[in-house]
Amino acid sequence: MAPRGFCLWLTGLPSAGKTTISHELAPRLQARGWSVELLDGDEVRRGLSADLGFDRAAREQHARRVTFVAKLLARNGVVPIVALISPYASSRALARKEVGPFVEVYIRTPLEVCEQRDVKGLYKKARAGEIHEFTGVDDPYEPPTDAEITVDTTRMTPGESADYVVLELERLGWLEPGATAVRPRGSRTVTHG
Ligand SMILES: Nc1ncnc2c1ncn2[C@@H]1O[C@H](COP(=O)(O)OP(=O)(O)OP(=O)(O)O)[C@@H](O)[C@H]1O
Ligand SMILES: [Mg+2]
Repeated sequence: MAPRGFCLWLTGLPSAGKTTISHELAPRLQARGWSVELLDGDEVRRGLSADLGFDRAAREQHARRVTFVAKLLARNGVVPIVALISPYASSRALARKEVGPFVEVYIRTPLEVCEQRDVKGLYKKARAGEIHEFTGVDDPYEPPTDAEITVDTTRMTPGESADYVVLELERLGWLEPGATAVRPRGSRTVTHG
């Protein structure tokens, strides 16, 4: 039987670097023999939460759906890497409780830097009042107080940030230190998007 997986839950402001780091993390974990699934907020919204908007109730419901899928994956030997703004501490606490083996990774990028990056141009639209309920502008982000790993993306490349997460996972005992790239039989990765 495959070993039980664990959930990597990346939270942070829009443009903090969640999607970018999740894509860097996937091959690093695969090289350690883990099957990986990326659960990216945008992709899951298209696939499972197309009916939901961005008010608090909708964001909570979206996070609950992601939590449910992550739980199924983790208990079947997969490492779900969740890349979700997940602005509310209560949603993240629920995920932690539901999923079981859970590592919260706070992608701590200051609002000013996120706003400068503005990958999707949404900060600009939110500042112009063209969109509403945008996290960091007119919707709250509750920073984690109990994240297992905190990543500063301002002085690192995405690859360095992912390396740092891997080192921390080793330190915390989720990954074996410097394990060789041996994959269990039948290991595979499926990614959305
Ligand atoms: N160390 C770093 N880690 C991650 N991203 C970085 C880093 N340094 C610079 N960046 C840049 O920051 C941007 C992060 O964008 P990304 O789409 O990953 O954010 P996101 O958190 O997924 O946002 P959203 O919530 O809107 O989906 C990218 O353009 C990336 O190249
Ligand atoms: Mg993203």
